[in-house]
Amino acid sequence: MRYLLGLDVGTSAVKAVLLETGGRLVGSVLEEYPLSTPRPGWSEQNPEDMWQATIKAAASIVSKFNVAPSAIVGIGLSGQMHSSIFLDQNKQVIRPAILWNDVRTSAQCRRIENTMDRDLLRSEICNPVLEGFTLPKVLWLKENEPENYGRLRHLVLPKDYIRFRLTGELQMEVSDAAGMIMMNVRKAKWSAPILEAFDIDEAILPPIIQSADVAGTITAEVARLTGLQEGTPVVGGGADNACGAVGSGVVTPGRGMVSLGTSGVILAHLAEPRLLEKGTVHMFNSCIPGQFYMMGVTLSAGLSFSWFRNTVAPGESYDSLTGRAREVPAGSRGLVFLPYLSGERTPHGDANARGSFVGLSNTHGVADLTRAVLEGVAFAFRDSVELLRQAGWNGSSLRALGGGARSPLWKEIIASATGLVLEEINIDEGPALGAAILAGVGAGVYKSAPEAVDSIIQVKSAVDPNPQWQTTYEQLYQVYRDLYPALKGSFDNLTQFA
Ligand code: XUL
Repeated sequence: MRYLLGLDVGTSAVKAVLLETGGRLVGSVLEEYPLSTPRPGWSEQNPEDMWQATIKAAASIVSKFNVAPSAIVGIGLSGQMHSSIFLDQNKQVIRPAILWNDVRTSAQCRRIENTMDRDLLRSEICNPVLEGFTLPKVLWLKENEPENYGRLRHLVLPKDYIRFRLTGELQMEVSDAAGMIMMNVRKAKWSAPILEAFDIDEAILPPIIQSADVAGTITAEVARLTGLQEGTPVVGGGADNACGAVGSGVVTPGRGMVSLGTSGVILAHLAEPRLLEKGTVHMFNSCIPGQFYMMGVTLSAGLSFSWFRNTVAPGESYDSLTGRAREVPAGSRGLVFLPYLSGERTPHGDANARGSFVGLSNTHGVADLTRAVLEGVAFAFRDSVELLRQAGWNGSSLRALGGGARSPLWKEIIASATGLVLEEINIDEGPALGAAILAGVGAGVYKSAPEAVDSIIQVKSAVDPNPQWQTTYEQLYQVYRDLYPALKGSFDNLTQFA
């Protein structure tokens, strides 16, 4: 028997997934680590915590499922996108990583937009300039921590940093490199005009590799720490959303995915790049060489529900809350939630936007509020679906993944708010599974990721839109859409009090 190991370096934990090369999921383990919020809007993590959790996860998956280390023929990595890890000349971490959901960089974003010709900038990065992306973080470091910037010699993202610790080789895998907005997305090369405009030395950017390229092998030291076998190949892997697409079989045009993690994503695979000249839809390189995907990102999807549970109903389980919310009619009896707890990317691109309950009355209780939270996130997804449709996506279903997708009620609400069928797949391990599949391609087990996913991933059931809810949501969505423009000025004014 031969196995593949996928490691997903997430925002709250490392997840390790072990896959038999024949396609059977052996199992998974999770090792958590903390996130710190030193100031409102800031979000940081210690890369050493990610590394220690990776070591533990790798060691525990090998021992838990009792596989011979030599039977693991390939390792792949996926990870949170955009989160910047700054290394010095000795490849030591300079300061805590600044994460994808950190919004301290609005001034730097405006500077980027105003420094470069907008059309040239768009045609290089194929994306909007948003606070979470990497280039604004580098400029923030330069302007606010010049001493740290002076020591910066290597810039990497979480999974590429972990791959460096596993193999001793420093590289940037292409689907993650795209999210740094320092790369020409269509050519998959570091962008000379951008590096020149912002005086960034290309030497700090590691060489770009493809997702299934073997980037290096497990070192003797890591073998001693984890029980993995020295010399096991480690592939480039992919950004968590790109790997989530592989792990859910979304690798051909027309297919789409909804991911309900901390952030929420609506993603559509593209065989060809598409230059979206404006707006907040992202377009990045996929894990399939020369192919792409576009996506809308809602920053607080699962986060809205976990915040709500922890704040309003601490101690109550998610299942119990969704059970109570099912008893509430669609539309939450006239209550609407805007899920902009930490600003919003798609469709508003606004770091100042904030969460809101609108329509609250003294007859509303926890069950109504719960349902409104689930519906608010679903409307945010609807916004992304509308934009992907305008960009030419014509799919009729989405494959659902992520913790939030375990809730049948939430899936039914999302299906009804978007008018799309939500498909449930046989192996629900998301990005880590995609990383394991890419490891199989790199190790020569599979010919290609599309071929592998067709044999490994199957749709096992589907959640259809509920016709009655759909009618209500069609009307309520118009109310939801009117709220952000109406509140925008107030969100901006409120920042001075935060
Ligand atoms: C995507 C994004 C998030 C993170 C979550 O652009 O920032 O989805 O990748 O880990």
